[in-house]
Amino acid sequence: MKIFITRKIPKAGVDLLLNEGYKIHINQYNRALTKKEIIAGLKNKDGIISLLSDKIDKEIINSNNDLKMISNYAVGYDNIDIDSASINKIPVSNTPDVLTDTTAEMAWALLFSVSRRIVEGDYFTRKGKYKGWDPMLMLGQDISYKTLGIIGTGRIGTSFALKSKGFKMKVLYLDEKKNQTLEKELKAKKVNKNELIKKSDFISIHLPLNKSTFHFIGLKELKEMNKNTILINTSRGSIIDEYALAKALEEKWIFGAGLDVYEKEPEINKKLLKLNNVIIQPHSASATFRTRSNMAIIAAKNMIEGLNGKIPTNCVNKKIFKM
Ligand code: GLV
Ligand code: GLV
Repeated sequence: MKIFITRKIPKAGVDLLLNEGYKIHINQYNRALTKKEIIAGLKNKDGIISLLSDKIDKEIINSNNDLKMISNYAVGYDNIDIDSASINKIPVSNTPDVLTDTTAEMAWALLFSVSRRIVEGDYFTRKGKYKGWDPMLMLGQDISYKTLGIIGTGRIGTSFALKSKGFKMKVLYLDEKKNQTLEKELKAKKVNKNELIKKSDFISIHLPLNKSTFHFIGLKELKEMNKNTILINTSRGSIIDEYALAKALEEKWIFGAGLDVYEKEPEINKKLLKLNNVIIQPHSASATFRTRSNMAIIAAKNMIEGLNGKIPTNCVNKKIFKM
């Protein structure tokens, strides 16, 4: 069997595939591949390990009749045309669980950093602007006892919420399903979108991107937030209307935002880059040594299961096995 890996990933995963006796072709450039290059690399391969930044569309999927498995090196899989894969009976898998706490920790890192103006303060101090203790310098927002609003309480949203325990926060959440864990552990309250937007001091988004979540937060929602609200997004950029957010931050409708994801990565709205009430990360929420290595192992295991004709543990289109 032959595998194409679209970018260098941690060795632990590659070793598993080599132990299986597979031939492996890894992108040799230290950059994302173009669509043409992905199609060329995929030629004669049985499986592909793709990144969230590779748009695996119908054309790519149909370019190789031998393709038997798509293992995405990410928990999100909005970059893959699942319908096209399913029509061709190709299983698609993701890498959930191993990155849950790591991603939730980044959401907290952003929440702390925006609340206490950490990046701005560091920059200020390095620039030599700190001239002595000042009662009015770098005032930010308290976290303890405030209201935390979580949009989407799947694995990551739940982990994020549970970590609020030490801060004795009031927790509101928005999800289709009642979250027993959060209700029991935090006395969290399930609310509607309007209530969450209006009452939360911090709003953290943990939704997958799909047609129903595209621009879930836009001008209207940003206008309804209170002026001390801090918005955190570690999910997918397009869940927020980035143009609207830049306007809201520039005009100070809200206190600030912490972002790890953008609508047109790697491009970022130019206005956001100039504002100091937003902290901007390079889509690195799962970027710890341990987690990235574990993601590589899971991606490899799913690949091996798929190529052996088994249902991959983290298959996201299991329905193809019932047809
Ligand atoms: C990261 O964004 C992921 O989906 O794993
Ligand atoms: C601050 O450093 C304080 O002592 O209040």
